[in-house]
Amino acid sequence: MTSSENRGQWGSKFGFIMAAAGSAVGLGNIWRFPYITGQNGGGAFVFVYILCVLLIGLPLIYNEVALGRFTRKNTIGAFRDTGANKFWLAMGAVLALCVSFFVLSYYSVIAGWTIGYIISEFTDFIHDFKTFQATPAYVIPFFGAFMVITILIVLGGVSGGIEKASKVLMPLLFVLVFLVMLRSLTLPGAMEGVRYYLTPDFSKITGKVVLAALGQAFFSLSVGWGILITYGSYLPKDQNIVSSGLWIGFMDTMVALLAGLMIFPAVFSFGKDPAQGTALVFQVLPDIFNSMPTGGRVVGASFFLLLCVAALTSSISMIEVPASYLIDEKKWSRKKAAWTVGILAFIVGIPSALSGGASDLFTNMQIPFFGGTTKTGFLDIMDALFGELFIVIVALMTSIYVGWIMNVKDIAAEISSGSPFFGKKIIGNLTPAILWTFFIRYVCPIVIALVLLSTIGII
Ligand code: PHE
Repeated sequence: MTSSENRGQWGSKFGFIMAAAGSAVGLGNIWRFPYITGQNGGGAFVFVYILCVLLIGLPLIYNEVALGRFTRKNTIGAFRDTGANKFWLAMGAVLALCVSFFVLSYYSVIAGWTIGYIISEFTDFIHDFKTFQATPAYVIPFFGAFMVITILIVLGGVSGGIEKASKVLMPLLFVLVFLVMLRSLTLPGAMEGVRYYLTPDFSKITGKVVLAALGQAFFSLSVGWGILITYGSYLPKDQNIVSSGLWIGFMDTMVALLAGLMIFPAVFSFGKDPAQGTALVFQVLPDIFNSMPTGGRVVGASFFLLLCVAALTSSISMIEVPASYLIDEKKWSRKKAAWTVGILAFIVGIPSALSGGASDLFTNMQIPFFGGTTKTGFLDIMDALFGELFIVIVALMTSIYVGWIMNVKDIAAEISSGSPFFGKKIIGNLTPAILWTFFIRYVCPIVIALVLLSTIGII
């Protein structure tokens, strides 16, 4: 097979939206969003988060998808073909590839926990999250199993595997999150959680909170990983990038906001600590299921099953970034690329898997992070570095690169192709294309740079 036969194309606009939304909706919405919200003060964080999605996330979604479709290349190829020198290649593309790879390594660990929880709904082998997490004989095999499933789906190719799975399962997840949210909202004392979650206390907004919100927005929207460049490269020219991007952003944000409404009422009702970190969702969800008068187990098992599937539609896209590079540029077969990336990510993920109590070294290691916080444990450190800081840096670099280094008009024209509205005048001479260009050149890089500078204490 030649490498172009290896590449493939999306079967339909709906399929692309569902696959991109499948990449976007994942553990980031249901596991990460609530725990980061809980660590950053609740309502105020949610407010900043929504602003970040609208003002910075959305323009960057358009940018990445269009860059991919414009060049028809993987992340590295897309930068190189548009004239990037070594510096921009490293800061935009190579760093994005690293983000995808390293996040995949610990993301699959967490996804492995969901497999354990599915089984436990039937067998009750998990008594509490801490003991479960501290037992290597549980976490390592589940982690490995998840990675193997991911690799097998990626082998199915673009429209066969990824697209088919996403189309059916994403809507189902949405329905289930909604149902569990209703249960959580009717628990005694639930309103205190709703208040915590939805009443912004603006005095809590600091540089660290904004960085966390930006990082979370990029994590959740799959922006700054090269993934949307890769998925955009499979998109036919006549498809509407503007409306697709809006859908992706809307669905992703809805699921995250609903996940918060599902978790926080229960957190307060059961008297748990909202700021406890990565364990939050896994501590709270089983309590919600147990509190159901009937059918708790069935709902619980289905919920964890769909969460696992949501993680799968994300993890397959994370492998796809480095794999598509190896397929396009190194002429590897899809099979060799997927297995190599997956197995390496498994090896790199082992310290994360052991950092929930199984290994003293990985559980207790610490690094000082921005804003005077300390991150403890290998997995949390990886999440702070790759899941937050580096994604934000990639997003900054990509917006500077597209806005100032390459010809920004090419990308604006690419967005317009298939989205005629983008080039039309809305007020006076102002077109959405001009507005977008202004955001990519000024708003995105300046806001992101200011946030980074303020968190390291320079301003
Ligand atoms: N957006 C996904 C989530 O929220 C994570 C992800 C990012 C997946 C980038 C793939 C690529 O879980």
